[in-house]
Amino acid sequence: MNFHVMTLFPEMIMQGLSTSITGRASDKGLISFDAVNIRDYSNDEKHHKVDDYTYGGGAGMLMQAQPIYDCYQSIIGRIPGASGDRKVRLIYVTPQGRTFNQSMARDFANEEDLIFLCGHYEGVDERVLEEIVTDYVSIGDYVLTGGELPAMVMIDAISRLVPGVLNNDESATTESFHNNLLEYPQYSRPEEWMGKKVPPILLSGDHKKVDEWRLMQSIERTKERRPDLYEKWLSENPPQPEKKKRRKKKAAGDPVQSTSEDAAQKEENT
Ligand code: ADE
Repeated sequence: MNFHVMTLFPEMIMQGLSTSITGRASDKGLISFDAVNIRDYSNDEKHHKVDDYTYGGGAGMLMQAQPIYDCYQSIIGRIPGASGDRKVRLIYVTPQGRTFNQSMARDFANEEDLIFLCGHYEGVDERVLEEIVTDYVSIGDYVLTGGELPAMVMIDAISRLVPGVLNNDESATTESFHNNLLEYPQYSRPEEWMGKKVPPILLSGDHKKVDEWRLMQSIERTKERRPDLYEKWLSENPPQPEKKKRRKKKAAGDPVQSTSEDAAQKEENT
């Protein structure tokens, strides 16, 4: 997957993404970064100006349409098929966009190429946005000095969903936000630290029981920390009407079995 970033600070993007997991994935050729300096497309040969005053007045400077559009055209010209039928999505990172989340990350991860536009100053001339932007995306309800950090946040979240980028394929499906549930608590060695013991079920070797315990923990944690997500999960996992179980005659001493549905059901009844 190829990320193309239109920015006034390409070194910020390259430094930010060349380390750790994204850096390794790029070394392996699983993803690529191309940070393109909008200033290189300025028609102002002397000062390479890319901003100007706002019509109608107001404080601050606005990024002009022409350098951004020419930068965009140059990127499109380098993406195979993009100047033809193939529409490449262009994400303008702005506090005015839809708030980025895991399901948007999954959606963007299906693309072969993505272009990001990072704004600065007081914003960008509306006309170029109308011409090139396909997605307006924010990372939250606060204002940053520029779009580079939000673009890197999104690129990081999208990259780790590209097959092969994470070592352990499983971790992208069991982590927080999968199925609208937060991840369960996890423990490593030692078994006891500062008087706190690892929950005994995790040492039992009973994988079914461990899975049930983790599901319960995920549900509890989501309910407590993110009631908004919990409501979503609940609407997608409505409590099942309790089945009348035909009781098999149990031999004395048989272990009591419970399933993950029972666990969720029990949760709903509390
Ligand atoms: N640019 C400035 N603030 C931003 C935000 N919160 N999200 C995306 N882009 C931004």
